[in-house]
Amino acid sequence: MLEQDRTEPRSVGNYRVEYWSSEPEIGSTAYFDYWNNEQIEKLKPWHILESGFAGLEQHLKKTGLVRQLEQCLDRAAQLGHAVHGVGADLACGVLWTTSLMLKRIGSISKIYGVEYSTHRLLEIGPTVLRHYGVEADKVVLCLGTFYKLRLPDESVDFVILAEAFHHADEPGRLLAEIRRVLKPSGVVLVIGEHRIPNAAVLYGRNFVKRIGSRILPKMAQRWFFGTMSNSVSLFPSLEELLRPDPIMGDHYYLLRHYKQMFSTHGFGHHRIRTRGCPFQGFVLLPQTSTAK
Ligand SMILES: C[S@@+](CC[C@H](N)C(=O)[O-])C[C@H]1O[C@@H](n2cnc3c(N)ncnc32)[C@H](O)[C@@H]1O
Repeated sequence: MLEQDRTEPRSVGNYRVEYWSSEPEIGSTAYFDYWNNEQIEKLKPWHILESGFAGLEQHLKKTGLVRQLEQCLDRAAQLGHAVHGVGADLACGVLWTTSLMLKRIGSISKIYGVEYSTHRLLEIGPTVLRHYGVEADKVVLCLGTFYKLRLPDESVDFVILAEAFHHADEPGRLLAEIRRVLKPSGVVLVIGEHRIPNAAVLYGRNFVKRIGSRILPKMAQRWFFGTMSNSVSLFPSLEELLRPDPIMGDHYYLLRHYKQMFSTHGFGHHRIRTRGCPFQGFVLLPQTSTAK
C-alpha cells in the first residue's frame, strides 16, 4: 500500500507524517523485525515513554554522541559547508539528532526524519520533539527505508546519519541514494560509527576473547567483551572477524573500508574522533567541491 491508499494518520500531534515505502517493502528490508520489536525496544534508554528522559540524556552524555555531533557541525562550518536549510535525518530513530540540530541551528528550515521503525518514529519521536520544543513546520516524519528517499535529485542541503550508516546491509546503495538527493554544495554528517583501529588490534582482541570464552562464565564474557563476538576460531579470516551482526545489523569496517566506500560514491571525507567516545564520525563532502 502506498501513500495515496493508506488510512494511517497523516499527522501525530501537529507533526506531519508521510509514508515513503509500502508495508511489504519496509517489512522485507534487512533487520526490520529487530527494530520493530517493541518488547526489546522497551528495555532501551530510547524508550522515554517507559522510562522518561533521564536515561536517554545520560546515555547520550556517556557515549559522547552529542559532542561528536557538535564536532561534526563545527568541522562542516570550518570547511565552508555549515549545516543550514533543508536536511534529512536518515534512520532517525527517536529523533534526538533532529531535535538538537533544530534547537541549536536557527538556519535549518526543515528536516525529513526517515525511519522504518513505526513506534520509534510515530510514538516515541513526537514526544521527543515536543520535549525539545521543536516547531511542527520544521519536521516531516517519513516512514520508510533510507534506500528510497522520496526527495528530488539535489534537493537537500545536508544529511545526518547517527549510529545509522553501519546498519545498512547495502552501504553502497545508501551512499548512492544520498549522493542523488544531496545538493553539490551539501554536506553529510556521519556519527556513531564503530571505531576499529586496525586489523592487528582486531586479531588481538579476538584472541583474548576466544581464550576468555574458554575460561570465563558467559556473564563475565559479556561484561568484559561487549556484544561484538562474531568469530569462533582462534585464527579466523578478516571477513569472519568483521562479520555483521545478523539480528541488529551492525556492520564493522576498518578505516580503509570507509575510505573506499566514500570515495567510490564521490565523497571526500574528514574523520572526527571524540575524546572518551567509543565511536568515530565523518564529515562527507561531494567530491566536486573538495580536494580529497
Ligand atoms: C542504532 S539505531 C540509531 C537511531 C538514531 N539515529 C539514533 O541515533 O538514536 C539504528 C536505526 O536504524 C533504523 N534503520 C535500520 N535500517 C533502516 C532502513 N533500511 N531504513 C530506515 N531505518 C533503518 C532502525 O530502525 C534504528 O532506529
